[in-house]
Amino acid sequence: MPGIVVVGAQWGDEGKGKVTDQIGEQVDYCVRYSGGNNAGHTVVVNGDKFVLHLLPSGILNPNCTTVIGNGVVVDLEVLSQELSELDARDVQVPHPLLSANAHIITPYHRVLDKVTERFAGKRRIGTTGRGIGPAYSDKVNRIGLRMQDLLDPTGLREKVEASLDQKNQILIKIYNHRPIDAEQVADQLLSYADQFKPYIVDTARKLNEALDDNKVVLFEGAQANHLDVDHGTYPYVTSSNPTSGGACTGSGVGPTRIDRVVGIAKAYTTRVGEGPFPTELLDADGERLRTDGGEFGATTGRPRRCGWFDTLSVEESTQINGLTDIFLTKLDVLTGWDRIPVCTAYDVDGERTSVWPMTAEQLAVAKPVYEYLPGWTEDLSAARSFDELPATCQAYVHFLEERVRCQISGIGVGPGREQTIVINELV
Ligand code: GDP
Ligand code: IMO
Ligand code: MG
Repeated sequence: MPGIVVVGAQWGDEGKGKVTDQIGEQVDYCVRYSGGNNAGHTVVVNGDKFVLHLLPSGILNPNCTTVIGNGVVVDLEVLSQELSELDARDVQVPHPLLSANAHIITPYHRVLDKVTERFAGKRRIGTTGRGIGPAYSDKVNRIGLRMQDLLDPTGLREKVEASLDQKNQILIKIYNHRPIDAEQVADQLLSYADQFKPYIVDTARKLNEALDDNKVVLFEGAQANHLDVDHGTYPYVTSSNPTSGGACTGSGVGPTRIDRVVGIAKAYTTRVGEGPFPTELLDADGERLRTDGGEFGATTGRPRRCGWFDTLSVEESTQINGLTDIFLTKLDVLTGWDRIPVCTAYDVDGERTSVWPMTAEQLAVAKPVYEYLPGWTEDLSAARSFDELPATCQAYVHFLEERVRCQISGIGVGPGREQTIVINELV
């Protein structure tokens, strides 16, 4: 009954899509359990690049059933478009199963996301503008719309109306925005009902039955540990629980059914949007990492902030997620540096610490303390076993492994599915 969780160990974009796709061949079910189309997961198969936002990355493996779990917020238009885009590229995929309890992102959530960010000015979060925060707020406020509401058009219309009665007041009076027409919104949402109805199921039961049958279920995290609303760099976080606990609540599968939790960590660090990032490089070195790593957002195209590997940040993820394994991605990008700094401590108000700070205030003033490891000049992209890596590169991997207190079971040496070094099999 293997249940495997893949989770981002830093601030997102670590390569979760690639790893999910790469193990997808051995997986029966691939489940998204949190977030929405704020995610951008890149998969490269035989040189063809796919960027998936809502569809689970297992979808390109023909034998994998994909599931959008109850913890996800679903923009119906985006889901429909993503499926059409694959179809237009002549990639035939089975339709994902959709949790009846997953919440729907409506056009008013997207509007609210944008106007609140604009209103916040300097205090903005730097969201993806996809309506994620407002949709989760409605969920928690118990005024959200769910996939199952597509089965009851009259009820859906009433809920949209009730929600807009209140939101239009806010839009007009606070944000100086024109009101949104409830009927138009309901019509638009219901225009997807016929397409999605056949796939709205009790996905929690389906997944538990699959695990009973000894099927392999992969829970594909979006975002990352430090973007988690509980454990991340609040308030600069997303509005859900991307951490491994979220795989249970976001899918309806209990913690006893999870066997492995794989943290995906980049060999350096990136972040998109606002918020603290102690090892960020604002100089030519940061620019070099961005260029070498192609660090531009898969969802919004924004340049990603870049910096060195931070062992405190990833060790924190080891703890919060109960990681059993780490998959280290983009090691190939570090080729060509004489020496590679790794942050192994912070100075916080004159005190040295080797653990992630407790408060936002401490993190804001934390100064990274680096150790310097020798680099390598060899191109790694063709390596397929650990032994093929240069000695200094092997030493870099071992150093990180020790500091983050988790075994490194796989290494990425390029974006392609096959550009992977397996140290311990994940399935
Ligand atoms: P995700 O959001 O965690 O799925 O990651 P993204 O897809 O947003 O960003 C990761 C980027 O790195 C994508 O462009 C991937 O194709 C690419 N990538 C993933 N693993 C590797 C790797 O090991 N080496 C290199 N060079 N690129 C990689
Ligand atoms: P994947 O799954 C990187 C960031 C946004 C912003 C904050 C809140 O591709 O790793 P939101 O729109 O969620 O309310 O934005 O979270 N963010 C991501 N950063 N990768 C992601 O997803 C992200 N999803 C959200 O940039 O700082
Ligand atoms: Mg991404």
